[in-house]
Order: sequence, then C-alpha cells, then structure tokens
Amino acid sequence: MSKIIIANFKMELDLKQSLKLIENYKKIFLTHKIKYKIIVCPDFLSLAYLSAKKQEKRTFPFHLASQTIGHLKYGALTGEVSPLSLKNIGVNYSLIGHSERRQMGEKNSLINKKIKMALKAKIVPIVCLGSEKKLTKNTLHKFITNELKEILVNLSKSKIKKIIIAYEPVWAISPNEPCSPKIASQVHSFIKDYFNNKYKINICLLYGGSVNDINAKDYLAYDNIDGLLVGNASLSALKFKKIIS
Ligand code: PGA
Repeated sequence: MSKIIIANFKMELDLKQSLKLIENYKKIFLTHKIKYKIIVCPDFLSLAYLSAKKQEKRTFPFHLASQTIGHLKYGALTGEVSPLSLKNIGVNYSLIGHSERRQMGEKNSLINKKIKMALKAKIVPIVCLGSEKKLTKNTLHKFITNELKEILVNLSKSKIKKIIIAYEPVWAISPNEPCSPKIASQVHSFIKDYFNNKYKINICLLYGGSVNDINAKDYLAYDNIDGLLVGNASLSALKFKKIIS
C-alpha cells in the first residue's frame, strides 16, 4: 500500500488562493512521478469548487478531504456540513478531531459520533489525536489508550479497519518544534500494537506536526509511519513538491 501525504490548508487561504495552489500542485504531477497517495483538505467552499473541476476533467490527481464533518445526516446544526453533502460532491475522506477543532470545544464523545456518521456515509475518517503537552512515555501511553477507547466506543472491528489515525502531538503543530522522527516512530509502535492486540488490525497511522520539506523523508523512512499530515508546509507548492517527490 502506498504511503499517504495529506495537505491540510486549514483556513490559511481564501478560495482564490486555494484554487491557485491546487493548480500549482497539478503542475508537480505533470512533471514528477508521485508514488504517494495525495489527499488535499481545503476549506468547504474550495472543496465544492474542486470537486466540480474533478468531475469535469477526470484527470485530477488528488483525493479530496474535508477538515471536519457534521455528526448527523440532517439536523438543526447551524454552520455544520452534512456527510451526505460531502459524499454528493465526491469527497471520500474527512479529518475528524483535529486539535484545532478540539480547541474549539470538540470532545471525544462528539468525535465518536462524527466517525460513525462518516462511515455510514462511506467517508473514510482520518482521526487526529495527540497530547497538548509533552508527556513521559507511560503517561503518554495512558493518554493515548484513553483517547482511543473514547473515540472508538461501540465501533466494530470491521468499521475500525476503515479508519485512518493521525498521531499529531499538539505541542509539535507549527510553528513549534517537531517531534523527532525516532520518537514519533516509537509512539507509532505503541499505537500500532494497541490495534494489533485489541483488534488484530494493522491500522493506517500517519504522523503530523511541523512536517516540512527537510524532515519529511526522515519520518517516511520508518515502516510504521504510513504517511504524513502536513499543514504549514503544504501552503507552498515548492515545499510540498519536495515532500512528495
Ligand atoms: P503543521 O500542521 O504541519 O503546520 O504543524 C499539522 C496539522 O495541524 O495537521
């Protein structure tokens, strides 16, 4: 299975800027052979524009993901977007529980509902987790175990198999210091073991947090890092090209 690289534009770009960046991304694909699966997460409006372009042209080299997703099919949820609308426009992935959403009040119980609803709509959840502060090994393992228990409540093994997890230590999210690839890989071993022991699943596990054009290859060199979730560095086509090529 090819490794996955996700570009998370957050709310760093307006519609015009997102579309321009995507055009520049496309040029990379014209001139380079890309061995990774690339998933782009622009804001909701850009997502709708891009999905229309994707259908028009057919040669659209990326997958699209939303940055969050509603936890109901329909409802009185002002400002939210239904998983069905996302599916309608051909979006097959969604970030869920990104730390910036958690900082706005999203709790594990809501993240659990979002995962379930995304799966019902046949959208692959990319679920983010990580501690806010640096923790000692044992405390971090306890924290992660607790997070996983809460976000995966009442999900069967067959559903869990479809999920992608992104380990993102919040303290490493830019513009902060990155978590070293070696430490990230050690935490990945712990998370992979958790899924292997509990569900007999080799979970797809990405790393995110201050990944850039210089350090990306060091993370990707580890077998247990199945890909990267890139924020800031994805906003430059030049840096993103270096990450993916
Ligand atoms: P960063 O963001 O690459 O800018 O640290 C990663 C993320 O927030 O997903």
